[in-house]
Order: sequence, then C-alpha cells, then structure tokens
Amino acid sequence: MWSRCARSTTITNKKNQEKKVNFSSSVPFPGEPSEPCMKTPVPGPNTKKLLSELSKLQQAGSTQIFVNYDKSIGNYIVDADDNVYLDAFTQISSIPLGYNHPDLLKLFEDEHNLKSLINRPALGVFPGDDWPSKLCNIVSLVAPKGLDHINTMMCGACANENAYKHAFMAYRRKMRGNDNFSVEEQTSCGLNSPPGSPRLAIMSFLHAFHGRTMGTLSTTRSKYIQKIDIPAFDWPAAPFPAYKYPLEENEACNKEEDSKCLAVVEDLMEKWTKKDIPVAGVIVEPVQSEGGDNHASADFFKQLQNICKKNNAAFILDEVQTGGGPTGKFWCHEYFDLETPPDIVTFSKKLQLGGYFFTEDMKPQQPYRTFNTWMGDPSKVIMLESILNIIKRDDLLQLVRDTGDYMKCQLGELEKEFCPLVHSTRGRGTFLAITAQTPEIRDDIINRLRTKGVISGGSHPQTLRLRTSLTFTKKHADIFLDKLREVLKEIKK
Ligand SMILES: Cc1ncc(COP(=O)(O)O)c(C=O)c1O
Repeated sequence: MWSRCARSTTITNKKNQEKKVNFSSSVPFPGEPSEPCMKTPVPGPNTKKLLSELSKLQQAGSTQIFVNYDKSIGNYIVDADDNVYLDAFTQISSIPLGYNHPDLLKLFEDEHNLKSLINRPALGVFPGDDWPSKLCNIVSLVAPKGLDHINTMMCGACANENAYKHAFMAYRRKMRGNDNFSVEEQTSCGLNSPPGSPRLAIMSFLHAFHGRTMGTLSTTRSKYIQKIDIPAFDWPAAPFPAYKYPLEENEACNKEEDSKCLAVVEDLMEKWTKKDIPVAGVIVEPVQSEGGDNHASADFFKQLQNICKKNNAAFILDEVQTGGGPTGKFWCHEYFDLETPPDIVTFSKKLQLGGYFFTEDMKPQQPYRTFNTWMGDPSKVIMLESILNIIKRDDLLQLVRDTGDYMKCQLGELEKEFCPLVHSTRGRGTFLAITAQTPEIRDDIINRLRTKGVISGGSHPQTLRLRTSLTFTKKHADIFLDKLREVLKEIKK
C-alpha cells in the first residue's frame, strides 16, 4: 500500500556549502489531497454556527476550526465547511503519522485490541495479562538509554506531576537513608505540615511550559493567563538562554549566555537551601516550546545536569513536545550526549498517552505512592506500539531529518528575502521556528496562512512554529514555503 519514492535535492546552507539531501523515505497516504483547497472564507458558515452552539456550553474562545475527522487524511485536515488545509501544527504536535493512517485504521478490527479498548482497566491493580509484555516492548523499543522503568499516565501534565512526586520521594529517601516513616511524619502529612509534608522545591525556567495541573503550574512560566488567580508553590525560576541567530555567527555571546543562566541556577539552588526549601528536582524542556522555541546548547544541558548531581536534585527532562521523533531523533536529548542518563524523561503527545521513563533510583519503594484509577490506557499503548513499528519500518526519523534540513535552509532564504519581517530560523528536524518582527505580524502571518489553507502555530511572544507529522515530505514543505512566501509578500507591501 505504501509506495517508496527516491528523489534528491541540493540545498545551500548559510555558509554557502552545498549539501545533497536524499528523499528516500516513504511517501504519504493513498488518497491524500495534493494541495490545500479553500471553499469558503475562514471561518465559514458551518464553523460559525458550530462555534455559537459550543459557546453556549463552554468558553470556546480557543476553538479555531471544527474538523471533519472522517475526511481528514495524511497531512491534510478538512473543516466543517469542507475547506482542506495542509496541517503543519498537527493538534499541537500530537499526531505522529498524519490523519487516518491505513495501518492504524486496522488496529481495532482485531478482537483482542477491541476488547482492550472497551474494557478499560484500573491498570495499577487489575492490568491485563499482556500488560507486562506490552510495557517491556515499549521499553525495549524507545526507552531513553539508562532508563528502563516506565509509568504510564493520562497526559503531559499528569506525567510531569507524577515525575515531581518521584523526585521528592527519592530526595527524602536519600536524606532519611531509608523509607521508614516516623509516626510524626505519618501524622503531620495529614495537616500538610513538615516533616511529613516537607518543604521542597522543583526548579524550572522562565518561559517554561510543563502543564496546567496544580503542581506543574508552579513550574509553568510561559503566559500569565495560564497562571493568574491560581495559588503557587514558592519554587525558583532560572533564566533560560536567549540565543542570537545564526548560531554559527554568535558562538561567543551564546556561550556567555549559557554561563550567565547556569550561574543563576547555582545561585538559586543556594538561596532555596538557605530558605529551607531545598531543590529536589530541576525540570527542563530540551527546546522550550510554548515559550517560543528557545534552544540551548548540549553544553548547557550537560552543565545543568552536573549542577543537579551536586545538589542531589533529580534532573527531569520534559520531552512531552520534543519526544517521538520531530527533531529527527526519537528523543531530543540524544543530541546532548549527556555523560550519564537523566533521572526522569517525561512524554505524551506523539506517544498518544502520558508517562515517564525513570532510573532504578527514582523508583518508589511502596505501592500506591504514584497511582490513579486508570494510570494510562492499554488501547493507547496498542496504538503506540504500532506507531513505533511504522516509524522504524518506514524510516521516518530519516524522513524528518531530510525534510527538516530542506525546510530549514528554505526558511533561511525567506529570512534573507524578507528581513526584518522574519528572522532567527532555528530548530532540528521539522521542529522548526522563525521569529516575526512583532507579535502582531506573527498573528497576521498565521491568520493569512490559514485563509490560504495552511495551519501553523504560534508561541510566545512572536514565534511561528512548525509542528508537522513525521510523514511530512518535501512536497508538503514546498507547499508550506510557497504559501509563506505569498503571505510575507502581502505583508511587506
Ligand atoms: C513541554 C510540555 N510539557 C507539558 C505539556 C502538558 O501536556 P498536556 O497538555 O498533555 O497536559 C505540554 C503541552 O503542550 C508541553 O508542551
């Protein structure tokens, strides 16, 4: 069903070096449209009607389009007015293979899989008799090196929330030397008081996003609207490096930026220890995504991990948005070449359910310490297994790297052509972004792209980000780039 294509193109990088890129991976879906097709203005009449119905039931201000998921296919999404869009945002980066992938459509024709879907277990107490082998398979396929334990959860925030708990428990166990809880600890935790409820902190970074549940919200620092009116823990926030681009022309000042930020991390560790709220864990995104696609060097992450080790703090990598292949490696932190594995790596989005991989050290010693009714969903793990096999079979990480290299070079060309409207092309794989001159221009670009049949995403404060599926090819990239050029021309006028 899947045909193969072989084509190549030559791209020129910023140093004018030519690189030949082979597009040898799979081509997309049978029946996938060849281009966007717009039948109404956006929003169209059906969309407006649905929006007014939904608004009577809930605050629906974030709704962009209503989707016909029966008609959507591959990298194209179809709205309630039959407009066909090229989707370069894929449900906030959570569709790994595109819509209605033929292999995934077949999954629940299998009776065992169907029964796993309709008989949803409380996985912590009554897992199916195939659950250990399923998890073992996931671990063997994609566990980050050195992290051979896994807990599944519901979503990204739920994964991070529980990762923090593991970090706190491991920290207390280290300090106490064991997990023999005193009577005082057992009674004081019921009153939310020390020593049972200890004063401990998770450090995060300014502009970070780790979720919106009560615990994770104290580490999220990207937009005020997500946090306002909600009480927060007294936890420290360090600055994340703000790099100048192109990287190769700004090495020295970006290195200095790393050092400045890391010095603040060390300083905050000390301050919070003095406040008697020691930092038990540091959480960081390999690329700050909601915060504007902010990157940091491998060296920054290596040094950050060393600071964590020195302070007995767990080093937690939030790969909720970067995990699953969009950067061209399955985990973005593989690019950092860390000397030792991180303590915890959290995931969700492209992996279909939330969860985290962790080391033996981070494993709680007693049951029910990280627990909820569902603890994930076996039907999502069935999908995940299939997705992982397809990524491997179709060499999709290579496709991501090829398409990404091509698109990054072309975005660089657009940057030259339309400076200063857009600048700072950055990213790995197809996890790419550019910065617009102002937040208003960025919004204008996204809106104009949508009316031309391309869905893209924005992030704080004026970033245009691409979050394509792993089956996005050069053909899709060319459509995106052509539409972006049209839009930039219109705005420049
Ligand atoms: C890096 C990161 N962490 C955590 C989350 C939260 O995930 P969820 O929305 O599934 O709770 C997100 C969501 O965008 C994210 O990008």
